[in-house]
Amino acid sequence: MPKQKALIAGATGVVGRNLLKHLLDIGGWEITALSRRKPDLQGAYEHISVDLMDASQCRASLGHLTDVTHIFFAAVTTDALAMAPALVSKNLTLLRNVVETMEPIAADLQHIHFMQGTKWYGSHLGPFKTPAREDDPRHMPPNFYYNQWDYMVERQKGKSWNYSSARPHAISGFAIGNPSNLTMVLAIYATISKELGLPLCHPGTPGNYQALYQCTDSGLLARAMVWMATTPHCANQAFNITNGDLIRWENLWPKIARHFNMEAGARRHISLVKTMADKGSVWEDIVRKHGLRPIAYKDIVLWPYGDFVFTPGYDVVSNLGKLRQFGFHEYVDTEQMFFRLWDDMRREKIIPPVH
Ligand SMILES: NC(=O)c1ccc[n+]([C@@H]2O[C@H](COP(=O)([O-])OP(=O)(O)OC[C@H]3O[C@@H](n4cnc5c(N)ncnc54)[C@H](OP(=O)(O)O)[C@@H]3O)[C@@H](O)[C@H]2O)c1
Repeated sequence: MPKQKALIAGATGVVGRNLLKHLLDIGGWEITALSRRKPDLQGAYEHISVDLMDASQCRASLGHLTDVTHIFFAAVTTDALAMAPALVSKNLTLLRNVVETMEPIAADLQHIHFMQGTKWYGSHLGPFKTPAREDDPRHMPPNFYYNQWDYMVERQKGKSWNYSSARPHAISGFAIGNPSNLTMVLAIYATISKELGLPLCHPGTPGNYQALYQCTDSGLLARAMVWMATTPHCANQAFNITNGDLIRWENLWPKIARHFNMEAGARRHISLVKTMADKGSVWEDIVRKHGLRPIAYKDIVLWPYGDFVFTPGYDVVSNLGKLRQFGFHEYVDTEQMFFRLWDDMRREKIIPPVH
């Protein structure tokens, strides 16, 4: 196979970190990882600490990367939970700085993969047409995914490289200091509830408990990103990518409680942001008692994402037909995914053993 060199922008995030891990695991790739913080992964890759908002810093730090063949763009501003107007220019700048630094110097550039999500369909705004298809009409902006897509479509014209984009939802996997991570929200919420002697109460709205929901395993996403970036007929396409099954919290919740050896309590809608704000000392006691990795409470979980997931009382469903028609057939069982990820986190001493 000809030499392939990946540049991962946003390598400490839940997308970038797990893509980095995947490329290290499968081998055959030279890898350079970009982020301000250093990823917590060992292995044969170069990390460059760079502020991607700063164009001159990008040019100075990335100028030697002339042999990059594939760019995986998974950087996003940390306040990106909302699709606020101010985020459009910030997130466009992040992408432009990477593309416009690399394109003139990387003579063998073949592909730029960049991330989107179900918010493309306005899933954050209220009930939307489901199952959502890639060619559904856009919602009223702002939505920085639209600006990034339009920029890439224009930029690619007449070029030898092409692009693709993944639209996952509720990406599940391990990452530290990652604001959008349901796996961590559930694990830390359950662990603290148990420490306080409470049953595991679903914190969401009544509609949320019953609505259809979807998740994307970060490993599955990494495999799909590499597939999109290296499969010629995926050029210049966007794909929904979720596990391939659907959940309702009302079905899964008692099983999650059993997994943590807890009783499932009554559903009670609370703001996790407000209710969990003062639980840092409980978490620190748990870390001490079980000899866990000393990750600060503010970094191990970001509660706004919990409220973001558990508030909407409508179905969140993407159509996977296009992904399947183009040839990606992998499936992950969402229940098993959560249990596997939490078992991994116990082995890594992130959360305590079940007792
Ligand atoms: N998480 C989800 O559930 C989800 C769902 C659907 C779609 N998505 C999309 O997937 C993409 C990645 O999301 P994510 O959840 O992986 O994000 P994330 O965990 O917040 O990671 C963001 C990454 O961007 C880097 N970054 C941010 N600002 C930077 C800067 N100025 N300079 C250099 N690096 C910078 C961060 O690194 P440092 O902070 O170390 O610099 C980090 O590695 C986004 O487009 C998001 O909208 C995510």
